[in-house]
Amino acid sequence: MSVADVIAIDGPAASGKSTLAKKLAEYLQYLFFDTGVMYRAVTWMALKRGVEILDETAITAVAEEIQIDVQPPSVSDGRLNDVFVDDVDVTWEIRQSDVEANVSVVSAYAGVRLAMTEQQRRIGNRKRVVMVGRDIGTIVMPNAGLKIYLDASVEERARRRYLECIERGDDVEFSEILDSMKERDRIDSTRQIAPLKPADDAIVIQSEDLDADQVFKEALSLLNGSSS
Ligand code: CDP
Repeated sequence: MSVADVIAIDGPAASGKSTLAKKLAEYLQYLFFDTGVMYRAVTWMALKRGVEILDETAITAVAEEIQIDVQPPSVSDGRLNDVFVDDVDVTWEIRQSDVEANVSVVSAYAGVRLAMTEQQRRIGNRKRVVMVGRDIGTIVMPNAGLKIYLDASVEERARRRYLECIERGDDVEFSEILDSMKERDRIDSTRQIAPLKPADDAIVIQSEDLDADQVFKEALSLLNGSSS
């Protein structure tokens, strides 16, 4: 039996998706592809241009013309990828709190999702890829050979994100991160199009009390039982 050639990892913010996906991609020599950076890049560009976030038509136009490029990391500063928008490295800019506060509104727009989903499928259909997001198993790659949905309480996830920010030297408040994450969870899981939820055939891993290695081990045992 061959191993799944497309692996979908979905779940809410800071549930450990990227950490797991990166490990699996390294282990299998697959491409690691975090789709969240694309929604963040559109949001970053809209804010930079002063486009009104509630103006769906204008935001959709940004999504349709923006050139986003995701490459393997060129700098050892904790990044999992280099992210370029129109050839400018925005890897850390797209993690800032103003992007974080607006990305869920932007990513709920139908035209934005259409533009991003098309690009994501093009990459996913080349196979040998671990894709991370909210709707990979349900919408983007519904035929993925292995679908994992990672979850943990919002308090635990906010704690992880807070530690990440502190490590990077960002000036952040835990309570603000927690509130912003709750709001993002709410918008992501209640939106009309491609809401955050496990695919019917996804395997849910609760990562609350597991460290990164334990989650990886669990995923590996699922992988060995999966097929393409
Ligand atoms: O890293 P974190 O889990 O905080 O967020 P992310 O994966 O970078 O995603 C940022 C936002 O993009 C999410 O809150 C969603 O609103 C949106 N997103 C989405 O709608 N669909 C995806 N496939 C990936 C992200």
